[in-house]
Amino acid sequence: MPGLASAGDDTTALAVRALKAARGQFVSGEELGRALGLSRNAIWKQMETLRQLGYQVQSIRGLGHRLVDVPDVPLPWEVMDGLATRRIGRPVWYMDTTTSTQDVARHWGQVGAAEGALVVATEQTSGRGRMRRPYFTPRGGLWFSLVLRPARPPLDILALSLAASLAVQEGIRAASGLTAVLKWPNDVLLGERKVAGVMVEFDGDQDRLHQAVLGVGINVNLDADAFPAELRDRATSLKLELGRPLPLVPTLRCVLEALDRHYERFLEGGSEAVCLAWRLAPNMLGREVRVISPPDTWEGTAVELDRDCALLVRLASGDLRRVAAGDIELLPGVERLAPRA
Ligand code: BTN
Repeated sequence: MPGLASAGDDTTALAVRALKAARGQFVSGEELGRALGLSRNAIWKQMETLRQLGYQVQSIRGLGHRLVDVPDVPLPWEVMDGLATRRIGRPVWYMDTTTSTQDVARHWGQVGAAEGALVVATEQTSGRGRMRRPYFTPRGGLWFSLVLRPARPPLDILALSLAASLAVQEGIRAASGLTAVLKWPNDVLLGERKVAGVMVEFDGDQDRLHQAVLGVGINVNLDADAFPAELRDRATSLKLELGRPLPLVPTLRCVLEALDRHYERFLEGGSEAVCLAWRLAPNMLGREVRVISPPDTWEGTAVELDRDCALLVRLASGDLRRVAAGDIELLPGVERLAPRA
């Protein structure tokens, strides 16, 4: 697949590692050549490859090469450098531009990619959200998909999506200090505006999931005027909320590490475990909501999640209604979306 960088690009990854190990000092071409098994001429070419990827490398004849700066691009060896996960993000594939990482990950999964394999892109030309709606994914965000093969019944898909949104909330907090709020089923909000969303697409039958592709989109460094007019009142970015940009690679690592923990819990405890964790996290329970579940639209108060992670909404009549799928709109209420924990 053209434009795909993987951790298997060993020479490039080794060159970066050797330069990083020198901590800003020059490394001679001879030494690099020995470490990489390349001639000195090939080393000059390799340094050129690094420059094309965005690394700043100073090369001086007689002295060698030294790393001046590393690009904030989710290149596989950068993402995996210090990544504390058991299965999530192993391996990583990176593309500058693609249609949708969902399609790439599904394909790689079908041809045998390991569970946890990650496909990340700088931008997508046909990003999609839940219910195959177009999703805005320009440069400046984190757009990625994971190949998963959970040994769980298909009914647990909703819980997987909730587990992923919990992980995104936790990763955002670790990377930025910001406390986001979860909106059932898959939105992550800051100040009532969407900053991130997750989705799960799967191949399977009634009894078993063969493969699930978990998609995550996080508006990290998007500026206000980057959003199309129809999203401006409903979407935000970490940069807009913090007042400064956040580096993409460390932010991605924080989210992957949280995903690793939450995925593990999902595998062990299924819907019930996820639901318990979701209830304890800052969330939208207690809010007045409009439920859009075509052909019906109705209003009530979001009061609880049941053990299958469906949302329970209390109607004006006092009756509880269960929502297992659909869209939720938060209605303006007395209680603002303030973190509870
Ligand atoms: C939603 O909120 O509806 C889910 C959004 C998920 C978007 C991500 S971006 C990376 C991956 N590739 C896609 O085309 N979609 C998901």
